[in-house]
Amino acid sequence: MLKTFDIIVAADQNNGIGKNGVLPWDLPEDMKHFKTITLAVADATRKNAVIMGRKTWESIPERFRPLSGRLNVVLTTSRDYPLPSSVFRAYSLDVALDELSSEQYDCLIDHVFVIGGASVYAQAIEHPQCRKIFLTRIGSDFGCDAFFPLIDQRFHLIDRSSTHGQGAVPYQFLVYERQ
Ligand SMILES: NC(=O)c1ccc[n+]([C@@H]2O[C@H](COP(=O)([O-])OP(=O)(O)OC[C@H]3O[C@@H](n4cnc5c(N)ncnc54)[C@H](OP(=O)(O)O)[C@@H]3O)[C@@H](O)[C@H]2O)c1
Repeated sequence: MLKTFDIIVAADQNNGIGKNGVLPWDLPEDMKHFKTITLAVADATRKNAVIMGRKTWESIPERFRPLSGRLNVVLTTSRDYPLPSSVFRAYSLDVALDELSSEQYDCLIDHVFVIGGASVYAQAIEHPQCRKIFLTRIGSDFGCDAFFPLIDQRFHLIDRSSTHGQGAVPYQFLVYERQ
């Protein structure tokens, strides 16, 4: 059976997610939230997979990549793009999901998360296997040049945290689920 996946993203009040190829904010508590969500497994013998575009891979500082404790999957159309041997290369989102659902990976992988960037989110939110969106909504405008798509009525808000970071950069953790 084809695995389902969740999206995890942080977006500003205009749905902005990045500027000049990187995150335009520094929110350590959101990084911690990202780590907690993407590392959590129901079955301790398995790990989660994180699927990202090649540009998002490049935006992660070398000392932090691959993201530890998770199977890193990088989408690229290039066969030659250099990646560490522990990183799984896929030529499309469907190829990645097919592979993660195969006999070889199915018993090793618990949850699958799509972690960006803009081009991959746009494909993921339209994908029938997309179940939840973990959104950190940042209540400021960062003049971004990369954006998350509109979350339409197919997705319902099922959880909202209190407001964190009162002051210059307030933010909330939201969870949407596809109905
Ligand atoms: N706020 C957040 O939560 C968050 C999270 C992640 C990223 N970001 C931001 O998002 C921005 C990057 O987004 P982006 O849209 O420019 O780049 P991206 O989605 O990270 O990467 C785009 C690249 O991924 C590959 N790709 C995408 N879809 C593919 C497919 N279906 N099949 C094969 N390859 C595919 C292509 O690589 P090739 O060109 O190699 O073929 C494409 O050029 C950055 O600013 C980053 O900081 C924000």
